[in-house]
Amino acid sequence: MSAEQRITGRTGILFILADPVAHVVGSDRLNARFAAEGLDMAVSPLHVQPKDLAAVIGTLRLLQNVRGFGVTIPHKIAVMPLLDAVTPRARLIGAVNFVRRNPGGRLTGDNLDGQGFVDGLAASGIGLAGRRVLQLGAGGAGRAVAFAVAEAGASALFIHNRTAARAQALAEAVGAAWPGCAAASGPDDPRGFDVVINTTSMGMHEGDPLPMDVGRLAASTDVAEIIMTPALTPLLVAAQARGCRISLGTSMLDAQYGLVKQLLGIPS
Ligand code: ATR
Repeated sequence: MSAEQRITGRTGILFILADPVAHVVGSDRLNARFAAEGLDMAVSPLHVQPKDLAAVIGTLRLLQNVRGFGVTIPHKIAVMPLLDAVTPRARLIGAVNFVRRNPGGRLTGDNLDGQGFVDGLAASGIGLAGRRVLQLGAGGAGRAVAFAVAEAGASALFIHNRTAARAQALAEAVGAAWPGCAAASGPDDPRGFDVVINTTSMGMHEGDPLPMDVGRLAASTDVAEIIMTPALTPLLVAAQARGCRISLGTSMLDAQYGLVKQLLGIPS
């Protein structure tokens, strides 16, 4: 937050609920964007333990200057039954990452991860319509990405996951929701794909092995990450060295700024 930014009784307040909370970077990025646009909004992380989630949600309903709150690990699924409504896409993904607090305290949950990812890709110059996509990983974030990739018009989505059954189940769910996208589980071979997306956690910690054989990457294949720290993962470094266009995991977070504004009815 800039030194000039003031928080007053008129400021629209947002929170990000997490446990642990120290790794949360979204609040800082959102505050910087609100300040840069001169918007009277402020975001703070809140350390909420799972046993206290229901009580905290009950309290947030009562706080009249709270416009909404982000939800992250480990609350994305547990928060769902505590809300008044959940959007169809959040229901499909099976997780909520942003909640709008409507006047009167009614809470609506949405999931902006997938749309944020697709918008972040577009901001990096990478489109998905009519393209063949290989997705590595089928975890929580991978679910949000897969549905959004299919919705964005990818012609094919192949999902590879360490636990193959999870990739299979996700591919079936995506194929059922978006029949225009040929969805299947498969190997982690990037040859013949236009876009490769890493949604596994491999690359987050020093010494992690690469999530696939980068020696098989063609320069014409675009490579995207959802890992935010480090911003430039070993996969992205290797892809860049091979001449691929890349998209950073932080693009996904940055794109969600516009989506949060939209959801809260703040004009762009
Ligand atoms: P998130 O919500 O961040 O997606 P997650 O649901 O735990 O977290 O998913 C992590 C993803 O990284 C999964 O696809 C996981 O594979 P499994 O479904 O087999 O667990 C993948 N992953 C994590 N560590 C991995 C490793 N060492 N090798 C391969 N895949 C790994």
